Order: sequence, then structure tokens, then C-alpha cells
Amino acid sequence: MLIFKTKRLTVRNAVAENKKDIAVLLQLWNDAETMKLAGFPEGLKTTPEKIVSQLRRQDDVPFNMTIMADLSDTGETIGHGLMRTPEKNGVAVFDIKLLPQFRGRGLAVEFLSAMLDYMFNNSYVKIVEGTPNKENAASIKMQERCGLLRTGEGVYEFPEKMRSYTNPVAHYIYRITRKQWEQLRAAQKAA
Ligand SMILES: CC(C)(COP(=O)(O)OP(=O)(O)OC[C@H]1O[C@@H](n2cnc3c(N)ncnc32)[C@H](O)[C@@H]1OP(=O)(O)O)[C@@H](O)C(=O)NCCC(=O)NCCS
Repeated sequence: MLIFKTKRLTVRNAVAENKKDIAVLLQLWNDAETMKLAGFPEGLKTTPEKIVSQLRRQDDVPFNMTIMADLSDTGETIGHGLMRTPEKNGVAVFDIKLLPQFRGRGLAVEFLSAMLDYMFNNSYVKIVEGTPNKENAASIKMQERCGLLRTGEGVYEFPEKMRSYTNPVAHYIYRITRKQWEQLRAAQKAA
């Protein structure tokens, strides 16, 4: 399912039957370097079978679905994203993970900007929120470049049963409201 396109990216749902999607997700989720700032110092230690079963269980709607970003010109998959259905208060959260070889080219900023547009184009999203680890300079910069503003901080503690293989995550809270997003896009259009 095509979800959206940007200048360089084609964003679609992850497919349980697509071996390349499973390989990309396995690489990202098991990579300690990618996962440590999310609180998993040894990665998720997941398996292809678990990923396939997770993808088979996901609903066929763009929210809450593991989405994949491909480079439109070569078809290479650069990483994955996630847009969560907003809570009752209208706050939606997101995730992006790019394979190391595709980082540093502005692709994450392009991907997140388009996710913001997608989320705010759904009328029930009032605020989009990110909670980057305080040490995750790349994620913080990405969120700031997309117009999110630091509004607070906190510490995420994993549930008791997960504590033996996770670390608490000291994070900032970044937010963009619908009004701020509308103003940002209007200013970009006028520039
Ligand atoms: C966070 C992540 C998606 C950013 O990807 P990326 O390809 O580096 O992002 P971009 O190229 O779009 O750059 C975003 C900004 O961050 C800056 N940046 C990237 N890495 C940085 C670093 N290590 N330190 C400081 N700034 C950094 C870039 O210079 C750019 O800012 P600029 O446009 O002002 O130059 C990527 O690093 C990643 O997948 N990390 C692991 C998973 C993760 O932490 N995800 C975040 C959860 S939301």
C-alpha cells in the first residue's frame, strides 16, 4: 500500500512476505548501536519469525503500522517509520530508524516532515510529539529541523518484566501543535 511520496522517498507498508523488508527490520531492531538510545543496549534480539508474525497481525491502516521508506530512484529501502494513532487528547507519536549507510543525507528530515503532513492531514491529530533520548543528538536535530519545539523532559521506565535487558530512557519532550505546523508550512510556502 502506497502511503505517501516525498521528493526522494516512496513510503509504503512493510510486507510480511517481503524478505527484504524482514532483513531491514531485523538489522535495525537487533543493532545495539541503533537501539541503545531507545533503551535496548543489546538491541531487541528479535527473529525473522517474530517480525513476520508481528507484520501479519498489523491492521491494514497507515496509523500504527510499520512503514518502510524506499529511495524512489533506486528502490533501495532506507529504513522504517511508525505513526501512532493519537491518544484521546489528540497527541500522536512517531518513530524513524534509518540504516546507517543512508544517514546524514537529510532523508530523515524529509521522511519526518512528510509524516507530520500525513498526521496533521488527519483532523483528529492535534499535536505530534517526540521523546528523543537526551543523548540522541541526531534525533533531536531532526525533530528541531522539522519544527518541533522542546517543551519538557522525563524519564521512561520500562515495565518490571523488561528491566533486566533495558535501560531507563532520560528524554526530552518535543512537540509541534497543529497551529505551529500550519504556520510553518505557510512560512515555507511564502519563502
Ligand atoms: C535519528 C536518525 C533517524 C537521523 O537520521 P539522519 O539521516 O542522520 O538525519 P538527517 O540526515 O535527516 O539529519 C538530521 C539533522 O541531524 C543532524 N545530525 C545527524 N547526525 C548527527 C549527530 N550524530 N550529531 C549531531 N547532529 C546530527 C544532521 O546534520 C541534520 O541537521 P542539519 O540538517 O541541520 O544538518 C538516524 O540517526 C537513526 O536512524 N538513528 C537510530 C534510530 C533513532 O535514534 N531514531 C530516532 C527515534 S525518533
